Amino acid sequence: MQRIEKRLREGMGLDATTIGSSSLQRTIRLRMKAVGAERVEDYEHLIATSATEWNRLVEAVVVTETWFFRDRQAFAALTDMVLKQWLPAHATGRARILSLPCSSGEEPYSIAMALLDAGVPAARLAVDAVDLSQRVIEKALAGVYGKNSFRGQELSYRDRHFTREGDLYSVRQPARECVTFRQANLLGEGFPLARASYDFIFCRNLLIYFDRVTQQLAFQRLESLLVAGGTLFVGPAEIPLAMENGFTGLNLTMAFACRRATEQANAKRPAAPPRTAKASRRVAMPPPLPKPTPPRGPLAHASRAEAPAAVALEQARRLADGGQLEEAVRLCRAHLDQQGASVDAYYLLGAIHDAQGDPSAREFYRKALYLDPSHYESLLQMALWAEREGDANAARNLRRRAQRREPERQQTS
Ligand SMILES: C[S@@+](CC[C@H](N)C(=O)[O-])C[C@H]1O[C@@H](n2cnc3c(N)ncnc32)[C@H](O)[C@@H]1O
Repeated sequence: MQRIEKRLREGMGLDATTIGSSSLQRTIRLRMKAVGAERVEDYEHLIATSATEWNRLVEAVVVTETWFFRDRQAFAALTDMVLKQWLPAHATGRARILSLPCSSGEEPYSIAMALLDAGVPAARLAVDAVDLSQRVIEKALAGVYGKNSFRGQELSYRDRHFTREGDLYSVRQPARECVTFRQANLLGEGFPLARASYDFIFCRNLLIYFDRVTQQLAFQRLESLLVAGGTLFVGPAEIPLAMENGFTGLNLTMAFACRRATEQANAKRPAAPPRTAKASRRVAMPPPLPKPTPPRGPLAHASRAEAPAAVALEQARRLADGGQLEEAVRLCRAHLDQQGASVDAYYLLGAIHDAQGDPSAREFYRKALYLDPSHYESLLQMALWAEREGDANAARNLRRRAQRREPERQQTS
């Protein structure tokens, strides 16, 4: 079994521990049963010699969960950048955007819909969409979706871009013509996309399934696909990975966007000002503070001090984003003294310590989780710490807990 897991790691980057070794082994046994292989060695030989069975195994193990406008702030940030930066700088041509992995198409179609809705003409857009799985590429090409692809409350785009057919919705023009799909492996040797082809890349919710070495390879490939100054969007749990691999976060709330660290520094320093002690301490924060959550249950009647408290925390986050870490910590602590324990304040303190590589970050995330055991961002950050410490089991469990929270987050976003 371990040899098959190794093949999967080498062939598609999958780190078995991220989805659970036992669940992976169950899937392998189901494939063995389907082809009548009694011994693991026989099945290993089969996948080494039959491209068809290898592809079937890959199809059986990929996690293809996705939906329209998942983590919608990323689409808002992209739209903003295209309208305010890309279009003014390019009188002709198309903004080139890559969605990889695109799964069954919800992400690249959302990109096209967001930009069309903002008034960008279809003729100024080219969205390429790539996934390893042929099955999801076929679904994306069909462009027909059921209710599971539509989550959250903001669904007005559905009326504008889909034709309803009973319980199903079919993507309409012009969104359809903006997207070109193809099957490819991001890690494959004959990877078909040319260097420096894309102004924007969405690579979300893939890198978390890779081990460290594979993540490095993936970041190198993504970097080579981006034009100089291009923007990479990753998933919520992947910003720290991007930062470990030479990118720096753009601090756009909940958009999880980043650029090559050197390019970002150059963009911010056009006149090469002298480095001050403060500037050198500027750090890119992990996923920024979520919008303050409205109190639930017994606290629903809300204290009078709630609004100023939220403002103080937002100010603390801005200070942290700008590198004024001590001041940000001071504000968080004052907030805790005045308001008592607060998930958002503990999370922000964790993020600030995390940005400095200080392991005491974990204590703050733990406190946040003590108050709200399903706090999404703290769960993801704790998963990364567990991973760094080599505790893959704990990391997996934390991610699972975070995933259970995903649909609820979408409802409120
Ligand atoms: C969870 S989905 C993410 C889809 C979308 N980006 C999102 O965030 O909603 C992960 C996708 O990665 C694809 N995938 C896995 N390994 C890949 C690889 N080596 N190259 C390209 N795609 C891969 C899977 O087929 C699956 O569709």
